[in-house]
Amino acid sequence: MKKNKSRNVILVGAQWGDEGKGKIIDLLARKSDYIVRYQGGNNAGHTVCFDDQKIVLHLIPSGILHPKKICVLGNGVVIDLEAFFKEINTLAKRGVSVKGRLFVSDRAHLIFPFHRLMDQLREDHKGSEKIGTTKKGIGPCYADKANRLGIRLVDLMNPRVFRERLRLLLTEKNLMLKKIFNHAPFSFERIHGTYAAYRKRIAPFIQDTSLLLENASRKGKRILFEGAQGTLLDVDYGTYPFVTSSNASAGGAIVGTGIGPSRIDEAIGVVKAYTTRVGEGPFPTQFPPDLMAHIRERGEEYGATTGRPRRCGWFDALVARHSVLVNGLSKVIVMKLDVLDQLKKIKICTAYRFRSKRYNRFPSDIEVLEKAEPIYEEHPGWLVSTKSARQWNDLPMNARRYIKRLEALLQVPISIVSVGSERLETIYIDASYI
Ligand code: IMP
Repeated sequence: MKKNKSRNVILVGAQWGDEGKGKIIDLLARKSDYIVRYQGGNNAGHTVCFDDQKIVLHLIPSGILHPKKICVLGNGVVIDLEAFFKEINTLAKRGVSVKGRLFVSDRAHLIFPFHRLMDQLREDHKGSEKIGTTKKGIGPCYADKANRLGIRLVDLMNPRVFRERLRLLLTEKNLMLKKIFNHAPFSFERIHGTYAAYRKRIAPFIQDTSLLLENASRKGKRILFEGAQGTLLDVDYGTYPFVTSSNASAGGAIVGTGIGPSRIDEAIGVVKAYTTRVGEGPFPTQFPPDLMAHIRERGEEYGATTGRPRRCGWFDALVARHSVLVNGLSKVIVMKLDVLDQLKKIKICTAYRFRSKRYNRFPSDIEVLEKAEPIYEEHPGWLVSTKSARQWNDLPMNARRYIKRLEALLQVPISIVSVGSERLETIYIDASYI
């Protein structure tokens, strides 16, 4: 039975990432005791407004900005230690201490410099077929994990095991670099030395985080699982192969942290009032150039990690419905409604057509996705600013109709509508869980 105030919540992106989860995580984190990441690595980018300043965190959960909150990087996260320590330093400069409240799973896998290089080389090798990755080494690291060649934090902490594992891993990588990419090898001693030096620094952060979360849950603590990227970038449910290499969807929170499924109370999805995508891959509702430029400008649609301009398009109900389904979403939060304020007409894609067949459900066939023609319904815009709306009734009638239409298409309640990046620029329709 669903309780009124859910304790353990999974928050996921329900499109292609960059839905504005950072702001919502920040709101929910205030009411949570633990904030946990379960997949991805420093390919993510959560922008949070903090004391009138914008902070972008790539790896450490943004909940760290709230004193007394405990933040966890689960076993499903891939850790670039260089990026990890850099973020800690940035936080320290802003007066945020992580001591005793940031933990990393001993089972989390490590990203090495050769993973970053392989990411780059593989992309270059693919040419026009490239995925448009963040080049942070995420895919190659997860590939080694699945290949049973990866190195976990716990392995790093055991000097003998680390030396052996690194030797094995690097031998293969250097062979690939030479034979496939005609690239100079990495020095074993150099990488070994750098990582051995990290050992002492990382030691205080390492925990059996599955046990940590189980104990927290037993004590009645509230845990927020923050998804990075979005469901359509999930390696299983996304637009494969144009996806990231982890399970960004709600199921990832279970295997990526070691918490049992019965501990989870609900999964909440975040969408934008339109759609964006960064990197390559099919995007059926992409705007024509003039509209793209307008929305990109108003929505500041540039990647938080790579600075790349995001592609923008109309709200795609097939995408969002697919997310409702595979995540079992109980609520949806709509972000950036204000970005649409100046549009006379607003479209929603409700189906695709490909070779005279109509698709009402999000298809898995990449060719259908690449060539499908979106079927739109058109709604009148509201042509006034929604930025100062604080309650449902403050919204212009056409904006309310638009939100209600999205709700009807998704068949789950929309509980929050965001009309700006500031915390106050938020309309709570159902705040019972916050
Ligand atoms: P990777 O995760 O770096 O391997 O990149 C794979 C795909 O996921 C590319 O299309 C990236 O642009 C996309 N991606 C990775 N992280 C994010 C994110 O945080 N937001 C949006 N897209 C992302």
